Amino acid sequence: MTTQPNSSASQSIFQEASQFIAGGVVSLNRKVSPNIVFKKGKGSKIFDIDDKEYIDYHAGFAPYLLGHNYSPINDAVIEILNQEWSLIGSGTNALELELASLVCKAVPSLELIQVTNTGSEATAHAIRLSRAYTGREDIILAVGGYNGWHNEVSRAVMPSLAQLGPRVCPGEYPFVQMSAGIPENTKRRVHLVNYNDLASIKYLMKRFPIACVLAEPVLQNVGVVLPQEGYLKGLIDVCEKNGTVCIFDEVKTGFRSALGGYQSVAGVKPHLSVFGKAIANGYPLGIVGGKKEIMELFDSPDPEKRVLIAGTYNAHPVNAAAAIATLKILNNPAIYSSIHQTSKRLYSGLTQIFKEKGIPIVLSNNASAYCVYFTEKTPVDLHDILENVDFAFDLKYRKALIAKGVYHIPIACKQGSVSYAHSDADIDKTLEITRDVLQEI
Ligand SMILES: Cc1ncc(COP(=O)(O)O)c(C=O)c1O
Repeated sequence: MTTQPNSSASQSIFQEASQFIAGGVVSLNRKVSPNIVFKKGKGSKIFDIDDKEYIDYHAGFAPYLLGHNYSPINDAVIEILNQEWSLIGSGTNALELELASLVCKAVPSLELIQVTNTGSEATAHAIRLSRAYTGREDIILAVGGYNGWHNEVSRAVMPSLAQLGPRVCPGEYPFVQMSAGIPENTKRRVHLVNYNDLASIKYLMKRFPIACVLAEPVLQNVGVVLPQEGYLKGLIDVCEKNGTVCIFDEVKTGFRSALGGYQSVAGVKPHLSVFGKAIANGYPLGIVGGKKEIMELFDSPDPEKRVLIAGTYNAHPVNAAAAIATLKILNNPAIYSSIHQTSKRLYSGLTQIFKEKGIPIVLSNNASAYCVYFTEKTPVDLHDILENVDFAFDLKYRKALIAKGVYHIPIACKQGSVSYAHSDADIDKTLEITRDVLQEI
């Protein structure tokens, strides 16, 4: 991939890093153009190696709901280190207990949980649990969704229309791989349907032994695509009728939409759920949890039925302390209403500016997560995005914002994230810069 470092300082670090890191960047979805080398983040701002300041809406791919280096979270981590908490790796501890009880209280569908380091680990465990529970092997995922990097879920998030083929309903789409090295047999077990398309899920359930539907309740890796009326409840009902496990992937939506996850907003209870990102405000922690009778398979007395969960670093005290502190802070509804107020200020300002400029957009949002789509049609699935959105203009817009100090990841249709740290002044400055940018491009 060609990347243009934005300054000579960025360029020299990138070039040197390329001698030691495959691709020059850790986690290659971070390899973007302009290829800026950043050095720190505080509150709503991030700073690059040349000390240039940006108002940040990328939020490290969304975990920073309270802002970068939010002091109460860092203080909780420092306190745990000062108390000489360590990763003992034997038995349970009081931190795990506190974390688990806070998570189960926050999300009523969670009767039991387990803790991982990342969202990807949590989705892998959820899929394996569903297979063990049902004795079936096939799974259903959404095109335009992202559920991590492991084999089963590594389909392209944004394939081209040519790769995906025209809209089919009912029916399924090819597994367009995002990674080489996935066994054919694994791909055959994965069925892809459009988001908001219950008919295709029913169609597949008649033809294949479906262990689970792993669904993001709001499609938030291709912007923000909201569920249609009745879709999420319908999904759970269809799964229940078919003996299939309904798993909500709330890695993006959980804790950012509301303390109880998007499921609490929709008023539904999936069988299993997966969380990550905002739960620990930037520290690495994932959760898999849900119905007791499924979760108990992790500790089944029958070795034939037992599902493995293990991980040297699971619930590391540093990450557990960060998650506990985050959950306690988020337990105050005033925090959410403040973030929502700030988000609303941004959304209404942006809507007004685009209207003034005569540029048709759809500003789609789920609480503090939003996306400006350059189209007139509100997307309900990936086909709507691929068929209607002006990707080239989106990218130009993002790069022009970055040049003026407003950071969105320079990839078309990626979610923007507002945090508790964003002030009205940040929003007003963002709006002013947006106005300038639209004058230029
Ligand atoms: C919806 C969703 N699920 C799972 C994941 C994977 O989480 P992680 O990157 O922590 O492995 C992500 C990451 O972006 C995600 O957005």
